[in-house]
Amino acid sequence: MTETLAALYPAHLATLRARADAALARSGHEHLLVPAGVAHYQFLDDRPYPFAVNPHFKAWLPVTDAPGSWLVYTPGRKPKLVFLQPRDYWHVVPQAPAGYWVEHFEIAIIREPREARAHFPADAARCAILGEDNAAVDGYAPNNPPAVLDHLHYHRAYKTPYELEAMRRASAIGARAHRAAEQAFRAGESEYGIHMAYLHAAAQTENELPYSNIIGLNAHGAVLHYTDLERTPPAQALSFLIDAGASFHGYACDITRTYAAPAAAEFQALIDAVDAAQRGFCARVRAGQDYATLHVHAHHVLASVLKEHGFIRMSAESAVESGVSSAFFPHGLGHGIGLQVHEVAGFQRSETGGTIPKPPGHPYLRLTRPLAPGMVVTIEPGLYFIPMLLDELKAKPAGRDVDWAKVDAFRKYGGIRIEDDVVCTEGAPENLTRDAFAAAA
Ligand code: GLY
Ligand code: MN
Ligand code: MN
Repeated sequence: MTETLAALYPAHLATLRARADAALARSGHEHLLVPAGVAHYQFLDDRPYPFAVNPHFKAWLPVTDAPGSWLVYTPGRKPKLVFLQPRDYWHVVPQAPAGYWVEHFEIAIIREPREARAHFPADAARCAILGEDNAAVDGYAPNNPPAVLDHLHYHRAYKTPYELEAMRRASAIGARAHRAAEQAFRAGESEYGIHMAYLHAAAQTENELPYSNIIGLNAHGAVLHYTDLERTPPAQALSFLIDAGASFHGYACDITRTYAAPAAAEFQALIDAVDAAQRGFCARVRAGQDYATLHVHAHHVLASVLKEHGFIRMSAESAVESGVSSAFFPHGLGHGIGLQVHEVAGFQRSETGGTIPKPPGHPYLRLTRPLAPGMVVTIEPGLYFIPMLLDELKAKPAGRDVDWAKVDAFRKYGGIRIEDDVVCTEGAPENLTRDAFAAAA
């Protein structure tokens, strides 16, 4: 299994080096320094928050638990890993570097964070240092040159074959855990019980997941970022929305499924319609497709679903124009994903910066870039029955063309979201999520 990653890693590293070389040339710096990060402590406490590694660090090597470590890269030279292994009998010390990637680095072990200084280039002013302010060591403070960040962030959207393999593995873990969660729902578990079944099947702690699980039964599915995890099951669980991911070597998957109980056949019919629409959007993840255009297309298709299922009486066109579709689908179609679940630079026009604006009336869209081979994006349409947005809609003139009895009958189901992670290729898209569910079957 690791052979594939080992075989793919050298080309990944060569790509990162080429990107770093170009970014440094653009900014006029001679060296790239990347601190992994340091622990953050809770106010007036000696308790640290969970460590979250600098994504610029984990892009280079599959190490996510390395506070106090640094990557030092000078074009033309072997990259250097300055690895902190403190003398510490209170905590488990990070393991000595091992694995297929180690031979590609010069490795220096340090015992104190400040010892990193001895491994830095002599002149801090010639270093582009990417990281958080608190990672500074002895005058080497992160300066985050915009020209470097713009270049690296823009190109990070295009995954290397190594990164795609890591994301396939994250997806495999996520699909396995989603199946366990569905079984827990069918067995009548509480939200908390489903959450625990998910973690157990993924064999990941909450801190290892790329984002907090969203596990909502019944009307809780209408809260877009519901994370309460009720401890007792409802009297009757009619519907279940789960948005949960997994990590592999620092790469994320982001998966949402919605299920109906056998007693909720009308809701299952609506899920099936959203599922069919979602598959159609996934099929459009093709080179040259403008993502913002795809988002607006999704509004038209979902508005047709609302009409066919009797929720609205106006045409799909007027539902989109009047904002009615946004009351039921109030978030973006998706986003880039990779080292972060919401990948950076979703609006960046080019490698030198700039912004591609969102279409008017769509403030929550996170991605406006045209799709190109190597990009991985989520496709996550939804239809929800959100009390606040329905109240607003009811007060508008367009609210007269809504069948409120029908809408009210569906509030108890909360909502539907179906989310896959899809790779844009030279040809047909690769659906990481559906492939992983099929393999897990
Ligand atoms: N899980 C967060 C999202 O779908 O974007
Ligand atoms: Mn998402
Ligand atoms: Mn999600």
